[in-house]
Amino acid sequence: MKPTVAPFPAARLRRARQSPAIRALVRQNALGVGDLIWPVFVRDGKGVEEPVPSMPGVVRRSVDLIARAAREAADLGIPAICIFPYTAMEDRTEDCAMAWDPDNLSNRAIRAIKDAVPEIAVMTDVALDPYNINGHDGFVVDGEIVNDETVEALVRMTLAQARAGADIIGPSDMMDGRIGAIRRALESEGFSNTMILSYAAKYASAFYGPFRDAVGASSALVGDKNTYQMDPANSDEALRLIQRDLSEGADMVMIKPGMPYLDICRRVKDAFGAPTFAYQVSGEYAMIQAAARNGWVDGERVMLESLIAFKRAGCDGVLTYFAPAAARLLNG
Ligand code: PBG
Repeated sequence: MKPTVAPFPAARLRRARQSPAIRALVRQNALGVGDLIWPVFVRDGKGVEEPVPSMPGVVRRSVDLIARAAREAADLGIPAICIFPYTAMEDRTEDCAMAWDPDNLSNRAIRAIKDAVPEIAVMTDVALDPYNINGHDGFVVDGEIVNDETVEALVRMTLAQARAGADIIGPSDMMDGRIGAIRRALESEGFSNTMILSYAAKYASAFYGPFRDAVGASSALVGDKNTYQMDPANSDEALRLIQRDLSEGADMVMIKPGMPYLDICRRVKDAFGAPTFAYQVSGEYAMIQAAARNGWVDGERVMLESLIAFKRAGCDGVLTYFAPAAARLLNG
């Protein structure tokens, strides 16, 4: 449908912008607290809250404090929290065995949150990078990131997370065939309600820099992730990846990063109509915070404007480090 506009002055499009009341009436998109997924970083220890320097306002919390943060998030109306572990260099090995250890940091955090705040949905990250000595999302054999062996490990990792109580599995590794393998394993182990939010179109992006600091991966990563994450120049490939992951059993799909890839969000929503999420990643967050802290932009307004952009682009929700701050503003 083409928009039709009467000739001036029959149409004066400014009529629709004349007052707060009229603007509220014609407003097309709304951001709600229910659209937010809050990514958090968990670390060892007790009572520890440690700032992440490249992400002002973001901290790594020990498991006990993660549960308390989840309580606050749920009270703000945030429906989901996503856990990322900060692992010490000693816990990283070539075989990544810690990834499917039932008592690893992230599984302990899942249990602590589900015990304390059963009503919040807990999402996980499935990829080997927090446990891999060389920082890659998959096993490295003779310099190659091997696909099929990695998928087997991701399945083990997923099952450990599901057993710990995860509600939403978030494969972020970009290996081929992992959604189907994970879905089959979940079904055969009785986790038929466990959801998969696939990082289906994940780009090889420089915007992940601050995140890699936050999880201690910056110094670990050998080389780059260009053989598995997408080329920022491509968009048709994103549609093929989304289609593939949906056909293998993903319930929801994600585009990542967010703001530089809003065109992909729109194409994906239009093409598939599936629950679609964007990840406003660490570098996006850091840029806004840096400018705000310098007084160069109005931080709150830029935050809300950046978030409504995802709704306008067709997303149902967004993973954002701003979740609690945005929720507080939205709740008034
Ligand atoms: C790793 C993972 C990354 C992010 C989420 N999961 C980084 C990467 O792929 O190197 C990035 C999130 C962010 O930048 O906020 N599996």
